[in-house]
Amino acid sequence: MSIQTIGVIGAGQMGNGIAHVMALAEYNVLLTDVSQAALDAAIEGIAGNLERQVSRGKVAEADMGAALGRINTTLALSDLGATDLVIEAATERESVKQAIFEDLQPHLQPQTILTSNTSSISITRLASRTDRPERFMGFHFMNPVPVMQLVELIRGIATDQPTYDACRAVVDKLGKTAASAEDFPGFIVNRILMPMINEAVYTLYEGVGNVRSIDQSMKLGANHPMGPLELADFIGLDTCLAIMNVLHDGLADTKYRPCPLLTKYVEAGWLGRKTQRGFYDYR
Ligand code: CAA
Repeated sequence: MSIQTIGVIGAGQMGNGIAHVMALAEYNVLLTDVSQAALDAAIEGIAGNLERQVSRGKVAEADMGAALGRINTTLALSDLGATDLVIEAATERESVKQAIFEDLQPHLQPQTILTSNTSSISITRLASRTDRPERFMGFHFMNPVPVMQLVELIRGIATDQPTYDACRAVVDKLGKTAASAEDFPGFIVNRILMPMINEAVYTLYEGVGNVRSIDQSMKLGANHPMGPLELADFIGLDTCLAIMNVLHDGLADTKYRPCPLLTKYVEAGWLGRKTQRGFYDYR
């Protein structure tokens, strides 16, 4: 199964990062979103990130131009009909993802592989509601996509071997490392990372430390590149809460209870960097 053209659904920070690395690896990319403004912002963001890579000598100037030339955008899901692989990177809400798959699948060729960049939702359940559970799997990138080496590959119960092998070959071509994870809530990375972030929020909630001392402790005391609260702002507090809810519901253990302070921030619309306010104020 040869993959040449990749459809990316969702032009947010994950979707634009995925489009960026795919285009650099010489795949043709068709990026789609519901708003033209989101697509324009994504192309601008990709160009800025590529320029940064050029200025640091990571990418040749000619490769930057070629990569940008390989990314096309569209507002119509139906345009993804001619792609070989689709990566859905829309909002982390199951109903939204399901609606996208329902709208998309009548336009897809039968052999097209459908994947989700979901950070925690059951791949088996998402797959079961599509017309191609054998050719469906989890393709989970880490943020920032151009920098992070890992991609989690998650097979649903019905995923067939050619589908896994084709996705694995794409990860290899990106020069990234694939980790195979079983289809359980949070897979590997978020099963471990999110409870740590949630615990950092509890540490704040209970007054054990303040935002700066908590982050500084984990940066200097555990050698993390970012403190957990800064990282939560970077990922998005709504995404962190959604993942904690998936862990809590799916594993039915109170140790995954989302911290009430995390819920409160999300209810306030303080979602981190993307709204310019989270545990830190970016205004
Ligand atoms: N695109 C391209 N390059 C980028 C980039 C982007 N969006 N963001 C950063 N970079 C590059 C920089 O150009 C720089 O390159 P050089 O090493 O060549 O100089 C390098 O990354 C480091 O960036 P900075 O110097 O600007 O800043 P930094 O040293 O503070 O590193 C960071 C930034 C890479 C984000 C680092 O802080 C880090 O690794 N943080 C932790 C990130 C993390 O844990 N991500 C996983 C989140 S979990 C997840 O994604 C899964 C989920 O489902 C929620």
